Amino acid sequence: MRTDLTFPNPKVTSGAGNQDSWYRYYAGYSSAFVKYSLETLAPSARTVLDPWNGSGTTTVVAAGRRQAAFGFDVNPVTVVIARARLLGAGVQGSINALAADVAGHAHPVRMTDDPLRFWFSPDSAAQLRALELSIRRLLIDSAATDEVLQDVNSLSSLASFFYTALFRTVRALASPTSGTNPTWWKRPAAGAALRIPKKVIIERFRAAAAELAQGLHREAFDTRTSVKLAVGDSRHLPLSDDEVGAVVTSPPYCTRMDYGIATRPELAVLRFEEADLSYLRGAMVGTPTITGEDQDDDSLGAEASAFLRKVREHPSAASQGYYTKYFRQYYAAMDASLKELRRVMAPDAPLVMVVQDGYYKNVHNDVPGIIADIARAHDFSLEARQDFHISRTIGGMNPSSRQYRKDSSAIESVVVLR
Ligand SMILES: C[S@@+](CC[C@H](N)C(=O)[O-])C[C@H]1O[C@@H](n2cnc3c(N)ncnc32)[C@H](O)[C@@H]1O
Repeated sequence: MRTDLTFPNPKVTSGAGNQDSWYRYYAGYSSAFVKYSLETLAPSARTVLDPWNGSGTTTVVAAGRRQAAFGFDVNPVTVVIARARLLGAGVQGSINALAADVAGHAHPVRMTDDPLRFWFSPDSAAQLRALELSIRRLLIDSAATDEVLQDVNSLSSLASFFYTALFRTVRALASPTSGTNPTWWKRPAAGAALRIPKKVIIERFRAAAAELAQGLHREAFDTRTSVKLAVGDSRHLPLSDDEVGAVVTSPPYCTRMDYGIATRPELAVLRFEEADLSYLRGAMVGTPTITGEDQDDDSLGAEASAFLRKVREHPSAASQGYYTKYFRQYYAAMDASLKELRRVMAPDAPLVMVVQDGYYKNVHNDVPGIIADIARAHDFSLEARQDFHISRTIGGMNPSSRQYRKDSSAIESVVVLR
């Protein structure tokens, strides 16, 4: 094991610069952490991958270092955000004028089945949808109709930027209190749909664009560096064998965190219906819904099966049923992803992962240790591990888990495998 590595804390702190807090994406990590990882472990890797790319911290930092990058995520919302983040700071001076133009060309688009109606009155939804269509007509296709945007993979970074401004507008207007990041959204009661005056919608949109422009990537940015961002599943990556020189990533948490529902407002902008949303949730590693794919515990290695046994034997309700299935499903998805990473990574390439431990009732879930054990079966070996103490977790905020643990802290670990 190496002991010479001193990673900066991966957590994005509240005082973080614009670049880190660019889009408050749940569970984003700091760019300083990615920089350090690439500088020390893969300074000359020709390609860097994040198979769980989220808001795209890895891909933007790699590109800033002129290392070609691949970023995949099952959630199309994140692909749009990650691409917007690549926009060069050079366009900053044009953003306000473009936002005004988008707003000026936005004429209400009424749709009976608009997913924005989840929160908004027909008029407000039509006004928000107008902004979407206007972005498309001005920046993607002047003949766009009100059909669903088909392909987020080929959006320009400028169009992605304005989509992100609209995401931010919708999220802020739909949030009961702005600044929170709800992972569960409530539909307003009948007759209480949000009615937001047109003027407010437009002001919010222009303000969101202006704020995001402030945080655009500032460093010298070589636009010739290839960055490929696409919707994709960590278990089936569209890459060739041994193609990747380094991976820096944070897999989904093992806390029943629902990354699909967490982005409901953004998915509504992309016109995701309930059926699309449940399909997406089913495709996510760590999804709280049980997808029915099963794998026996032993094939996941000694550490995972010991943990699963403790969960199964726990006397509390649903331990044997739902919770055993949930955790098994999480580790089976991690197993399949690690197998796929082994395939696409060059033999000596480092895999840097940020993972948090957790508890099921009073049973410790050593996610970093279990993942390292599963990885061993795929020919990775543990090169280093550095732990950071964090004081508040999603699990810790749940009143029912307080019955078992007073302390709501967790350990976030950086695990280096090779
Ligand atoms: C912890 S977040 C990554 C955060 C990222 N490091 C950042 O800085 O924003 C995990 C991401 O994994 C994605 N994800 C979940 N299941 C996936 C799968 N099967 N394949 C690819 N991505 C997936 C989620 O949508 C989420 O964006």
